[in-house]
Amino acid sequence: MINDRNLPIGIFDSGMGGISVLAEVIKLMPKERYIYYGDSENAPYGIKSAEEVKKLCTNICDFLIDKGVKAIVVACNTATSVAINDLRKEYDIPIIGMEPALKPAVTLGLDGKIVVMATDMTLKEKKLRELMDRYGKHKEIIKQPCPKLVNLVESGIMKGKDVEIIIEECFNGIKVDEISSIVLGCTHYVFLKDQIRAFVGDKVPIIDGNEGTARHLKSILEHRNLLKSTKEEEVLLDVYNSKREEKIIELSKNLLIFSLEKLGF
Ligand code: DGL
Repeated sequence: MINDRNLPIGIFDSGMGGISVLAEVIKLMPKERYIYYGDSENAPYGIKSAEEVKKLCTNICDFLIDKGVKAIVVACNTATSVAINDLRKEYDIPIIGMEPALKPAVTLGLDGKIVVMATDMTLKEKKLRELMDRYGKHKEIIKQPCPKLVNLVESGIMKGKDVEIIIEECFNGIKVDEISSIVLGCTHYVFLKDQIRAFVGDKVPIIDGNEGTARHLKSILEHRNLLKSTKEEEVLLDVYNSKREEKIIELSKNLLIFSLEKLGF
């Protein structure tokens, strides 16, 4: 069991989405060291087979373990849904996953339909079914896949006509005034929160699981005595991407700055 508290934390996603989680984690623990891995070459995960996604996740975890991380955050709902159990069996460090924030949405106690926006895979997997059984039994829940939103974020497109059209498409057949809240069950969608807000209006709460994941990570590190002991003046972060292009690393960093600013960091 690794117990060096000064080792970095590894965070990965199918691409850019996990950057929104990274921002939340940095806000909560700015003194830690981080390694972010985006698998943009293989994005989107949501349309692959579960076996393919598991294999990709194992490869990334091997990479992060080689870099000497003390914990790994699977900053992707899709990867968490299909791979987290296997990853936890395989690696001897804390592996923290994501889950659609259905519980907080139900806890709001609002009348109306809860829209869970996520990839097809997340919406079909056991994890969401279990969450729905536990928290959503007496609620009407609409499961809404929005695959095109992932491609927009991967291309760094976060506003403009294309975004508006695709968001409108996502809500096709859903009456906005019947929605009680929206759960962003895909880490990529968090970057489009303002645009989704512009479409549904100010009254509908839009909830994501990023802050909950960051808090969960911190409590696990605390519990295992793995919080960093030395203090840095600035955030220490290495960014890797399977696309191996300078422009994708630049996009990752720009998205991180965008997310941190949104969080008021
Ligand atoms: N960011 C991922 C998630 O949270 C999925 C995007 C993809 O399909 O690759 O589910």
